[in-house]
Amino acid sequence: AEHPPGPDTEGQVLVASNRGPVSFTLGEDGSLTARRGGGGLVTGLSALRPGTGTWICAALGEGDRAAVARFGSRLDPADTGGQAVRMLDIPAGTFEAAYNGVANSVLWFIHHLLYQTPFEPVFDAAFEAQWSEYAAYNAAFADALTEDAAPGSAVLVQDYHLSLVPGLLRERRPDLRVGHFSHTPWAPPELFRVLPDAIARRVLLGILGADRAAFLTRRWARAFAACCADVLGAEMSEADGLTVTHGGRTTRLGVHGLGADAEFLRERAFRPDVDERLAALRAQVGDRRTIVRVDRTELSKNIVRGLLAYRRLLTDRPQWRGRVTHVAFAYPSRQDLAVYREYTAEVSRVAEEINAAFGTEGWTPVVLHVKDDFARSLAAYRMADVALVNPIRDGMNLVAKEVPVVSERGCALVLSREAGAAAELGEDALLVNPYDIAGTAEALHRALSMDADERDRRTKRLSAAATALPPQTWFLEQLAALRG
Ligand code: F6P
Repeated sequence: AEHPPGPDTEGQVLVASNRGPVSFTLGEDGSLTARRGGGGLVTGLSALRPGTGTWICAALGEGDRAAVARFGSRLDPADTGGQAVRMLDIPAGTFEAAYNGVANSVLWFIHHLLYQTPFEPVFDAAFEAQWSEYAAYNAAFADALTEDAAPGSAVLVQDYHLSLVPGLLRERRPDLRVGHFSHTPWAPPELFRVLPDAIARRVLLGILGADRAAFLTRRWARAFAACCADVLGAEMSEADGLTVTHGGRTTRLGVHGLGADAEFLRERAFRPDVDERLAALRAQVGDRRTIVRVDRTELSKNIVRGLLAYRRLLTDRPQWRGRVTHVAFAYPSRQDLAVYREYTAEVSRVAEEINAAFGTEGWTPVVLHVKDDFARSLAAYRMADVALVNPIRDGMNLVAKEVPVVSERGCALVLSREAGAAAELGEDALLVNPYDIAGTAEALHRALSMDADERDRRTKRLSAAATALPPQTWFLEQLAALRG
């Protein structure tokens, strides 16, 4: 009952992404527990059902590898949340180089403009070796898709991990309709050109192998087109929708701004497990106002500057001391990378410093939780007076869209102007420059001071804008556009 039948997709659809809808953890006793994957990509593609298609993804860790060894790579839909999943057991060295090396240590940093963090790419022999593993990883997906796709199928390739797959499919299976979707921002040419020329060309040509390359906002689509023009000398046109023409082929660009799933959220957020967590949080913060944030502990999410802005609020506006609590959930992410581990430690350190500087016997200024708990995140959404979403850059940011949907008190949204969501929510959110700590502190003050009627009005409009394109429609819209 939890998983409705899939949408009518009129024919076979294959989805390919690094992270799939499920991952397994291996218990000490050898037992395997399946857990649903999080994040915008998984949320957006959750409409795929057996009978309509198959989702091809990578085995991400020892749990997934053990599951493939035990059950085979085609998983039982009962274990996957109702989806037909084929999990590829990519050799560990290839996966490590492709995912942690090329995708997350280079492409992610470039698209998110994380140049002021320790991003010092060295394109030497070691990188070249990683790049060939990235190519091998992409080839493994292309092999699996070539094998599984019935003639004329639609294939939806996801994200920066798989930028070479559309080009490979174009060579091998010209009968397929291939779409590529970027869930990240796209870098402006000045930064994209940090990549060695040959690699920059391969990434762009790989994606241009698709019939259609789609993005979360117009801004990211235009940045991609600008990179194609700059690096490849491709022609971009807006005459009949945005297109890029190179080497005699035209790729259409599309924009689909993934929205929040109102129906799912409104049902899920009011179940007893969420009520329980809400009561526990309430007991912790009392009747104080709350500023809530929920993120992966991710450099681009800008959590440390968010804490510093809160600190600045307490410094400059002493009237809030003791009257507000910052409820910050920062869930572990990409802990194989040293820079993420260091960032995680810094988040805790700054939170502790604020608590040491301002805390009193009855008041803990920052309540930081680092253990991923979806029910508790929903409880925080419900109780929030203010939501802080201040990424340096973000493809969309679904938290900004989810909070207004389940908010019980009318929640003021302080939102980075560099998040894709700002394009749709900009009128009713308080937009901030994510680098500007004083400006963010001032926006927090305005948000906390907003009167209840105005908050309520804004929240209603935010919620309507945030749910304009729910996942199922987002998915079908892309398929229709690919086939059209
Ligand atoms: O492209 C963005 C994205 O795929 C999001 O959907 C998701 O939140 C995040 O990256 C997940 O990263 P990872 O799979 O490395 O944990």
